[in-house]
Amino acid sequence: MKEWFDALDKKQQQALEGGGADRVAAQHKKGKLTARERVNLLLDEGSFQEIGQLVTHRSTNFGLAEQVFLGDGVVTGFGTVEGRLVYVFSQDFTVLGGSLAEAHAQKIGRIMDLAMQNGAPVIGMNDSGGARIQEGVVSLGGYADIFYRNVRSSGVVPQISAIMGPCAGGAVYSPALTDFVLMVENTSYMFVTGPNVVKTVTHEEVTAEELGGASTHASKSGVAHFTAANELIAIQQLRQLVGYMPSNCEEEPPALPYTIGDESRPELDSIIPDNPNQPYDIRQVMNAVIDHDSSMEVHADYARNMVIGFARVEGRTVGCVANQPAVLAGVLDIDASIKAARFVRFCDAFNIPLIVFVDVPGFLPGTDQEWRGIINHGAKLLYAFSEATVPRITIITRKAYGGAYDVMNSKHIGCDMNYAWPSAEIAVMGAKGAAEIIFKGEIAKAKDKDAKWKEKEAEYKEQFANPYEAAARGYVDEVIRPSETRLKVIHALRMLRNKVDKLPKKKHGNIPL
Ligand code: HXC
Repeated sequence: MKEWFDALDKKQQQALEGGGADRVAAQHKKGKLTARERVNLLLDEGSFQEIGQLVTHRSTNFGLAEQVFLGDGVVTGFGTVEGRLVYVFSQDFTVLGGSLAEAHAQKIGRIMDLAMQNGAPVIGMNDSGGARIQEGVVSLGGYADIFYRNVRSSGVVPQISAIMGPCAGGAVYSPALTDFVLMVENTSYMFVTGPNVVKTVTHEEVTAEELGGASTHASKSGVAHFTAANELIAIQQLRQLVGYMPSNCEEEPPALPYTIGDESRPELDSIIPDNPNQPYDIRQVMNAVIDHDSSMEVHADYARNMVIGFARVEGRTVGCVANQPAVLAGVLDIDASIKAARFVRFCDAFNIPLIVFVDVPGFLPGTDQEWRGIINHGAKLLYAFSEATVPRITIITRKAYGGAYDVMNSKHIGCDMNYAWPSAEIAVMGAKGAAEIIFKGEIAKAKDKDAKWKEKEAEYKEQFANPYEAAARGYVDEVIRPSETRLKVIHALRMLRNKVDKLPKKKHGNIPL
């Protein structure tokens, strides 16, 4: 009897050692944790249940028969975060560089299948040299098996990727297919082809960090939604993020207890500058409307003219989308449209109500935007809002001009409650430009052209640069004092809690990708 247990203990101990003490030390020396340390920090203490600890590869190619490690370079299983079930996989760089091949991929696939069957999020921690070179084509097959599952799971269970080491070649496409990507600064990178290939093909000299490090993907490409200074912070962020989400598309996000109190926010009454061309920080408005200190900004360093993020109102998760007048006057451009569209679709897929703050002068003009297809990209945001069936609330704080008014969750594309502040300006275009076009002849004939222009500008402003024309047509449900906004949002969200809205029967829509 004792021998049985000794044999089991020995195997388990061997699995816990990963690639051995030297490789673990090398991992720590790089400022990285091991796969198991990461899992244990991510999950509630003692909740991790491992699956496939004793799995090994079956390859004998290129000396692999002598390099058999229990677990095959990935730790997989399930556990809880704040008491809620999640599935995890964590690649072990100390075992064959965390490289992926047949058995490694099967372990990840099994976790993903269980997550789908049981309706819980999948969190993947990536740290891998990519396809296991010795195993050849089965590694490619293994990746594709995961990609396929990523797509099948999309919109069914939340999928989150943390990049905590190398993630290169085709391997990048699994994180890209998941809902959120988090990267650790200085120790992680993602690229389709690395610096050496880049140098050979394009003669560009670039470091791995510049090409695909955390700050590159968080600010330039938008591939990373979050960055963290180190792994401990990254893991805290993963725990926080999953706390906003329901376990699957059939469920509501978790609700925290909340007792209603004084919900007026007088500071908002003085937030809009007297001069309509002066910026202010829309995050101050958002922070006053959501529960105190409840937000988690997404894509904070990318397309900063749009602010998106999770927050809570009365303890319940909401998704916030806002033009940011403090950056590029809050103009809508390609990056901002794509950033917001993907977030809107995530919220809609997972029953998270949307609160949209509008202060937008229009779409960004210019050849760069036009030639790169602002038409298609702007349409993505229009599409995402139009198809969203979750409760949707809009607050127009100041400018809502032109097509951007329509796109930013207007009444016409299905917003449920549309509030405007008295400072709102809802019109086809700014008064100055409008006067120039419609009163062109009159201005040209005038003796004092400038004075005439100003007079006509004031006339147009008087008529349209306010919320009342839109309110008269019911496009705006209510013009409210800014200080009342939080209370209005609370009541609107309560009213919309049982909203039922269905899209017409179809296989799937055809979003302008
Ligand atoms: C097998 C690998 C491996 C791989 C690393 N190792 N990558 N084993 N297959 N892909 C092993 C190393 O042999 C070494 O084993 C250990 O992992 C650590 O690697 P080091 O090179 O010592 O570590 P480091 O210096 O930190 O460099 C990390 C690295 C480098 C930059 C990731 O290992 C590297 O360039 N690896 C190859 C990357 C690659 O070309 N992968 C294939 C990409 S194509 P020992 O025994 O010494 O500890 C791809 C296609 C996917 O992934 C397509 C999907 C559709």
